[in-house]
Amino acid sequence: MENIVITGVTSGFGVNWLYQLDSAKNAVFYVLGRDEEKFNRMIKNRELANKSYFIQCDLDSIQSINNAVESVKSLTDSIDLLINNAGVWSTESICMSPDNIEMTLAVNQLAPFLLSGQLLPLLKNSKRSHIINTASFRHRDAKVNYEDIELKNNFDAETAYCNSKLYSILFTKKLANMLEGTQVKVSCFDPGIVDTPMLQQAFPQSLKFIYPFFKRFIARTPAQGAATGVFLSLMLSADISSGSYFKNNKAKQVSKQANDNSIADWLWAESERLTGFKYA
Ligand SMILES: NC(=O)c1ccc[n+]([C@@H]2O[C@H](COP(=O)([O-])OP(=O)(O)OC[C@H]3O[C@@H](n4cnc5c(N)ncnc54)[C@H](OP(=O)(O)O)[C@@H]3O)[C@@H](O)[C@H]2O)c1
Repeated sequence: MENIVITGVTSGFGVNWLYQLDSAKNAVFYVLGRDEEKFNRMIKNRELANKSYFIQCDLDSIQSINNAVESVKSLTDSIDLLINNAGVWSTESICMSPDNIEMTLAVNQLAPFLLSGQLLPLLKNSKRSHIINTASFRHRDAKVNYEDIELKNNFDAETAYCNSKLYSILFTKKLANMLEGTQVKVSCFDPGIVDTPMLQQAFPQSLKFIYPFFKRFIARTPAQGAATGVFLSLMLSADISSGSYFKNNKAKQVSKQANDNSIADWLWAESERLTGFKYA
């Protein structure tokens, strides 16, 4: 039986990911989310075959993540799979987290950094374990500001999002390097363009009228969007090449920036500074 900690399953393709894992595995799910009623409605409509615990976790709050980690630790000593899927595309004007950190950075990068770091002892307690981070092809459009990681001085929601998805890959690769020689593997993937509430929010206002066509002819369905994540979740640990970025069930090249160790080191130091957390 596997212990699976998962975020971002109360909306979008994460819903499909959860149900597909539920069909394929004998597992206990530790669902970290911000809206318990939403989760309860979801599993009332369609029951899960496996046991699940809902754990309150607002991924924009360091305190809430710390509390969720304590809740997971009170329920299990080991984790086999940690899925960092939750993400946001911010509003056009800058929005700050309860810790006064720009929201996209807080949820898309700092939360996986903190959650993975704090749950690492439990991942190490498992015979084989895997961390999966949801990245995006949009990492190629990143425009990193090394003086202002939060883009406080010139905020743009699209740049904040693309930067955060570059960070998901840099984080995956650096963590995989740090964990080399252990049984903990780390990977990330691009789900493609998927018809979800996030895509609708990110779609240009002036082109909203073509969204139905876009959804029908270009975007993937949520089930298709979940496919590579499901593929990675079912992969045998020995077959996972740690630190890789996947798309359509295959390892793919990333941008030059996403392979740049000096950017990864800068990101790591910034993540430590902003969360106040250091990996052991
Ligand atoms: N859709 C695409 O085309 C696309 C493409 C590439 C990558 N991605 C990535 O795929 C992942 C899933 O995206 P999606 O398109 O399925 O988006 P979505 O429908 O907006 O779902 C996002 C999920 O993240 C959760 N979440 C957001 N902020 C949170 C917070 N502060 N605390 C806890 N949970 C939070 C949401 O919870 P609630 O249900 O409570 O809102 C929801 O479950 C994201 O990482 C996204 O960046 C999406």
